[in-house]
Amino acid sequence: MLVLGQTVNQSASAAESRYGATAPKLAEQQSSVGGPTPTTVAEMWSAWCARCHADDGSGKVKEPTITVEPMDFTECKVTTPEPDADWARAIAKGGPGVGLSPEMPGFEDSLTREQISGFVKHMRGFCKEARWPSGNANFPRPIITEKAFPENEFLLLPVVSHATEPSSASATDVGLVAVYERRIGRRAMYEVGIPFYNWDFQTSRASAIGDLAVAIKYAAYASTTTPRIVSFGLEATLPTGELYKGFGKGTVVFEPFIAAGTMVGDWYVQAHGKVELPVDTLVDRAYLYNVYVGRDTSAAPNTWTLGVELNGENRELWVTPQIRKGLTGTGALAASLGASIPVKYRGERVVSWVGYLLWEFLEPLRARR
Ligand code: HEC
Repeated sequence: MLVLGQTVNQSASAAESRYGATAPKLAEQQSSVGGPTPTTVAEMWSAWCARCHADDGSGKVKEPTITVEPMDFTECKVTTPEPDADWARAIAKGGPGVGLSPEMPGFEDSLTREQISGFVKHMRGFCKEARWPSGNANFPRPIITEKAFPENEFLLLPVVSHATEPSSASATDVGLVAVYERRIGRRAMYEVGIPFYNWDFQTSRASAIGDLAVAIKYAAYASTTTPRIVSFGLEATLPTGELYKGFGKGTVVFEPFIAAGTMVGDWYVQAHGKVELPVDTLVDRAYLYNVYVGRDTSAAPNTWTLGVELNGENRELWVTPQIRKGLTGTGALAASLGASIPVKYRGERVVSWVGYLLWEFLEPLRARR
């Protein structure tokens, strides 16, 4: 009993001293609100956050005291893809901690970790619609493994040709796929990808497009709290490639796939499997599977992320170590670079450079002023 009493007292006085030290600061911020000292998170929100973010989280206040209007937290489309960790960091370190405006103050010195996660939880409540997948399962995109979380993204990727037969597309050819991904509603996404090639043709350079790919993806299982997600999808590649030059398969190929992601401790684990079913039965079926494991080196949205993939196609296997970096403070622009190393391969043993440049086009690129 005594011990228990002591602990309670201790933590009470710890909290007191925390507030004691910082009360003037928060009281200052609170001056326009007045009234008794807030105790619940909702009251604290009204007292310390609402003058900029509004009571309802919309950011629309009658008399703004700042020049940057904060994002509308009631807009589920924009808020749900954000991981809790990014919001917690914004509250602790202020806008600059996540590449946003310094008009968002940092509360690291005046709030406990528990209070900060209390705020994040409170803010999650501003989105009133159910069934939006939690941004906690919005993991960094691996290079080859399909991501399960539906995205609003534009990507550029070098083409990796795992062709086992020699074709006119040699290792020195340059290929690039442009991919556009767009969310539909709460759980679905469509995707369009067009490969471009440019290569030496006799004495000049020639270019061509490859097989156009269209895909839909649906997050069938997405926890709204834990970082766990499973998506199903169907991709179709159309024979738009100039086959006689060696680009494309010359037939429509249907590719049903499954993609999943979770976290194990601090590690991201993502997996992806698909079957390539060509309409032309003379073209071989292919079974592909990819597994990614990786982790961030810091909590900043522009962190370095280190990872490695295993990429299997039929009986062949590659290992792809990779590194990813957010290029702007918000991480809305990111690049990844890796090397695909054949482990079990019946063709020529070449290591290919792989990677991407990615732009999350609904995220702010950098802080507004
Ligand atoms: C002085 C005004 C002000 C106060 C007070 C304030 N904020 Fe903010 N906050 C902002 C602005 C402005 C932004 C957006 C910055 C941007 O988009 O560049 C922001 C952004 C945020 C973000 C990041 C959202 C995102 O876009 O990722 C979170 C989380 C947040 N605020 C939480 C809080 C909490 C919790 C409180 C109270 C404890 C609070 N804010 C108090 C002005 C304020």
